[in-house]
Amino acid sequence: MKIASISAYQVFDSRGQPTIEAEVALQDGTRSCGTVPSGASTGQFEALELRDGDPRKFRGKSVFKAIANVHDIIRPAVLGRDVFDQRGLDQTMIDLDGTPNKKRLGANAILAVSMAAAQAAARARGEPLHAYLGPGNLLPLPEIQITGGGAHANWRTDVQDYLLIATGARSYAEVMEITYNVYHAAGEILKKRGKYFGVADEGGYWPDFKSNEEALQLLVEAIELAGYQPGRDAAISLDVAASDLFDEATGKYRFSLEQREFSTAEFAALLEDWCARYPIISIEDPMADTDWEGWQMVFQKMGQRVQIIGDDVFTTNITRIRAGIEKRIANAVLIKLNQIGTVTETLEAIRVTQEAGWLPVVSARSGETEDAFIAHLAVATNAGQLKVGSFSRSERMAKWNEVIRIERRLAGAARFVGSGIFQQILPAKSD
Ligand code: PGA
Ligand code: ZN
Repeated sequence: MKIASISAYQVFDSRGQPTIEAEVALQDGTRSCGTVPSGASTGQFEALELRDGDPRKFRGKSVFKAIANVHDIIRPAVLGRDVFDQRGLDQTMIDLDGTPNKKRLGANAILAVSMAAAQAAARARGEPLHAYLGPGNLLPLPEIQITGGGAHANWRTDVQDYLLIATGARSYAEVMEITYNVYHAAGEILKKRGKYFGVADEGGYWPDFKSNEEALQLLVEAIELAGYQPGRDAAISLDVAASDLFDEATGKYRFSLEQREFSTAEFAALLEDWCARYPIISIEDPMADTDWEGWQMVFQKMGQRVQIIGDDVFTTNITRIRAGIEKRIANAVLIKLNQIGTVTETLEAIRVTQEAGWLPVVSARSGETEDAFIAHLAVATNAGQLKVGSFSRSERMAKWNEVIRIERRLAGAARFVGSGIFQQILPAKSD
């Protein structure tokens, strides 16, 4: 099935920022789009998101250069190609770009076409996207943000995400119910205390706390108020996004909210103490992307009891993930399509992660779109976990709802193991 046309244009993400969408049409008339999300706490090792940088145009954020690259460079090379050869298409774009971080064409330009082609191919075959991407049938366990912080909430907390994992859920529907109850209980508590200031970029509450620990206390209280047992029915997950707290010059981590500074060892000790006092089952980016000794320290202390996820440290980059596996710095990898820039490389990153016995966590960005591609990606690969931000705002709910639709279509073939997924990496938890 040949690609008959490709076009790209500017649309807007959930923060109202410009982003690129591509449309691919096939010789049989099938059409599909791919829309690229965008991060705020972007890792320094990510593939390049090409923006125009002209302050007079969309405050420098427009993506017309990326769009021109799709039209002038990618389109001539890809028109007439077989849409079912995703690997070949992606490789062609990687070769056309020719740089390690896709800075010539822009990872956003490449990914828009890559996603649109995959979606069009699935449509042409009459299959749902997940079935086209892979044979998986495992419904993911969501990580759902309750309060936002860091770069997503003007540093109201230094820790970026305080999230909920419905560890006691026996079905995806039960995850939705537990999450719904805890999310709204947390809102109720914040309102009652005069600490409710709407929602942050990913739909979690925008809090007004005096310390980072206050958010942990809120989560425990919200779980209890909703009628659940913390640690059994629902547990806490953190994304520290520690690269944003790290000062390369002094080698210190800083909590601005509390005017505190930590050496690597002190910061690891703080996280260990939190894990001892709160039902924390997962920590993402506990250390900065350059502080591999810190990562090893955290993993040695907690890697048997807590899921340790690398986001900025790996940036969905197979070379970096392999290095992390060799050095044993984590047991899970955050997977973001636009950190690496093609569907094929993302699938590869998931495969490398799983082959090492680690867990992939498929993730959205803080600047999202209505495209629910990642819900399909999580199911297709049996990733087991999905992180999309909170339980409000349609760009978030689009993904949670898409999993509901996938479950319906899979009917009896859908599987859900919930927190059983952690048995693979946390032997200490399962005895
Ligand atoms: P980002 O945040 O999309 O702003 O990078 C998400 C995350 O850090 O996981
Ligand atoms: Zn992160």
